[in-house]
Amino acid sequence: MRRPIIVGNWKMHKTTAEAVALVNALRASVTQVQDVDIGVAPPFTALMAVAEALRGSRLFVVAQNMHWEPQGAFTGEISAAMLTGIGCTRVIIGHSERRQYFAETDATVNKKLRAALNAQLDPLLCIGETLDQREGNATFSVLEQQVRHGLADIAAESMARVVIAYEPIWAIGTGKTATPTQAQEVHAFIRSLLGELYGKALADEVRIQYGGSVNAGNIQTLMTQPDVDGALVGGASLEASSFAQIVSFQRG
Ligand code: 13P
Repeated sequence: MRRPIIVGNWKMHKTTAEAVALVNALRASVTQVQDVDIGVAPPFTALMAVAEALRGSRLFVVAQNMHWEPQGAFTGEISAAMLTGIGCTRVIIGHSERRQYFAETDATVNKKLRAALNAQLDPLLCIGETLDQREGNATFSVLEQQVRHGLADIAAESMARVVIAYEPIWAIGTGKTATPTQAQEVHAFIRSLLGELYGKALADEVRIQYGGSVNAGNIQTLMTQPDVDGALVGGASLEASSFAQIVSFQRG
């Protein structure tokens, strides 16, 4: 029912030359994959070259961040129109690294989300709890706050274009993946919350990705879970062969 969506978040890795070499290899190795939406999120400096290298392919180009204002005196920032102008179709908003190291809050995440939607850029909204929050039984309340505040004033028509990425912070870059059961429990919770906010029919359409130490060995069981609709992949997306294996997962 929901088409899987798998995106590689390269974070602060790859020069432009390295990025182009990676997508050229990736493009060649995923030609057989038909039923999965596949994206890559290179650093800003490589977006244009990657978009050029992927022209005519099914792979789409994602930015890792953006500013909410359309233009102005914001040194070092990038607007939504600058991203669509070079071929980006999606943007990651509110990654936990942005929240943790660059002071992003649910309020700024919400502003970015609305600006992206207005600019015809489809957002991937990242949410996730820390280990302390999980161990303190606060996972659901933390996620509920991130969803409710992150999606404040987002109309139902726009919500259909939002992808949610559940990335438990304790699973990012640690090699500790959430178990398929843990992921499913949270994804089902997020979907029921979306049902409260937007109605069940729309909630059933929204794709919810899992992220956090996804690799070729665990993608398969994660994807067998009914509410896991894809993945946001960090480390394992930095090599064409491992990312190609991930997007080629066999459906159970
Ligand atoms: P890793 O796959 O390296 O754990 O990173 C996950 C992530 O943060 C993707 O956005």
